[in-house]
Amino acid sequence: MKHSTKVGIIGAGPAGLTLALLLQKRGIDCIILENRSRLYVESRVRAGLLEQNTVDLIRELGASERLDKEGLEHHGVYLSFNGVRQRVPFKELTGGRCITIYGQQEVVKDLIQANLDRGIEILFEAHAKHIEGTKTDNPSIFYQHNGEEHELTCDFVAGCDGYHGIGRQHLPKDTYNEFRIEYPFSWLGILANVAPSSDELIYAYHERGFALHSLRSETVSRLYIQVENDDTVDNWPDEKVWEELSIRLGTEGWSLQSGPIFEKSITPMRSFMIDNMQHGRLFLAGDAAHIVPPTGGKGLNLAVADIRFLASALTNWYDNQDDSLLQSYSQDCLRRIWRAQDFSNFMTYLFHKQAPHGSFENLLQKSKFDYIRISKAQATTIAENYVGLKEI
Ligand code: APR
Ligand code: PHB
Repeated sequence: MKHSTKVGIIGAGPAGLTLALLLQKRGIDCIILENRSRLYVESRVRAGLLEQNTVDLIRELGASERLDKEGLEHHGVYLSFNGVRQRVPFKELTGGRCITIYGQQEVVKDLIQANLDRGIEILFEAHAKHIEGTKTDNPSIFYQHNGEEHELTCDFVAGCDGYHGIGRQHLPKDTYNEFRIEYPFSWLGILANVAPSSDELIYAYHERGFALHSLRSETVSRLYIQVENDDTVDNWPDEKVWEELSIRLGTEGWSLQSGPIFEKSITPMRSFMIDNMQHGRLFLAGDAAHIVPPTGGKGLNLAVADIRFLASALTNWYDNQDDSLLQSYSQDCLRRIWRAQDFSNFMTYLFHKQAPHGSFENLLQKSKFDYIRISKAQATTIAENYVGLKEI
C-alpha cells in the first residue's frame, strides 16, 4: 500500500509521541510507525525523573491527568560520599523549580492514550526499513506491517526511533561527527514492592561502588547499584542486592527497608552523540541522536526538549513558509544536549568507583563532593542542571 501524511514519525517512544501531539494541536497531520507492540512499549522499564519543562509540556498537551495525581514532586536530592550525606535543596537554589518522579513507562502509556483519543494513527508492529528522498520535497518511509510492504510518503520524516533505529543510518556519514564514551561499569536496577526508605533520591559514592535510591510510589522503590560490565543478574540474588545497597547507601541513623524484588536488569552506561541531527527533510530527535548515562536522569527530558524545537520549526514552515527554524534545528538542540552530556558525565564520574580508594583520582572525587558541602555556588550549579535549565 502507498499512503501519505505531512510528517512521518518513526518510533512511539517519548519523542515520537510528544511530537505527534504537538503537531496535531497545530493542525499538522502525522502518522507514527512503531516497531514493537503497544504492550511491549508500555511495559518497558526505564528511568523516571521528569524535569519541570517536561512536566509543563505534558500538561500543555493535556496528557497530565495521571501525572498530576500520581507524580511525586521532589524539592531536593541527597548526595552521599562514603556515608556522609548532604542535601541539595532545589527551591532556594533554583528559584522554585523542582523535579517530578513518575516512571517513563507511565509517561508512555499516558501519551499513547492521548494520541489515540485525538485520532492520531499509531501503527504498532510496523517496522520501518528504509527512507528515500530525504533531499527531495517528498521523502518516503518504506515499512513492513502485517507481513506486507508499505510506502508512507510525507513532507518530512522524524527519526524518533531511538539509539538502534534506522533514522541515524540515513544521515550521510560526512555530515556529522560522532562522540562516544563507553563507561567501564553498568547499572543493576531493581523495582521492589517496599515503601521507599527516603523521601528524596539518594546518589551515593561508596568505596564498593555507586548506588542510587529512587522510587516510583509510596509502595514501590527503584534502586540501582554499580556492577561490572560483564556481570549478570544471576550473580545477584535478592539478599545480596539488598545487602550491597544497604552498605553503599548507608549513613548514621538511617536504615534501608528491603522487600520483594519484581524486576531486575543490567544496563550498560554510555555517552553518545552526533553534532548534526538533520539532512534535507529528515530530522532526528531523542535517543536516535544522543544517549546520556542515567546518572543525571536526563534521557527522556532531552528527547522532549528536542521535540519542542522540532514542533516549532515544522509549525513555522507550515504556517509561514519559513524554514529558518528547520535550518537551525540541530544547533538549537545541541546547546542543551552538550549541557546535559556534561552534567551527566560529571555526575557519573563524581559518584562511580573508577579508581582505587585513596588514589589521587579518588581524592579528587572526594574534594569535589566536599566542595558541594561548603560552597553554595557549587550546590547551585548542581541544582540548576539537575532540575533542568529553563532556557538554554
Ligand atoms: N521502525 C519503527 N520503530 C522503530 C524502529 C524502526 N525501524 N526502530 C526503533 N523503533 C522504535 C522503538 O521500538 C522505540 O519504541 O522507536 C522507539 C524509540 O523510543 P525510545 O527508545 O524510547 O527513544 P526516545 O523516544 O528518543 O526517548 C528517549 O527513552 O531510552 C530512553 O533513556 C531514554 O529516556 C530516554 C528516552
Ligand atoms: C529512576 O528513578 O529510575 C532514576 C532516577 C534518577 C536517575 C536515574 C534513574 O538519575
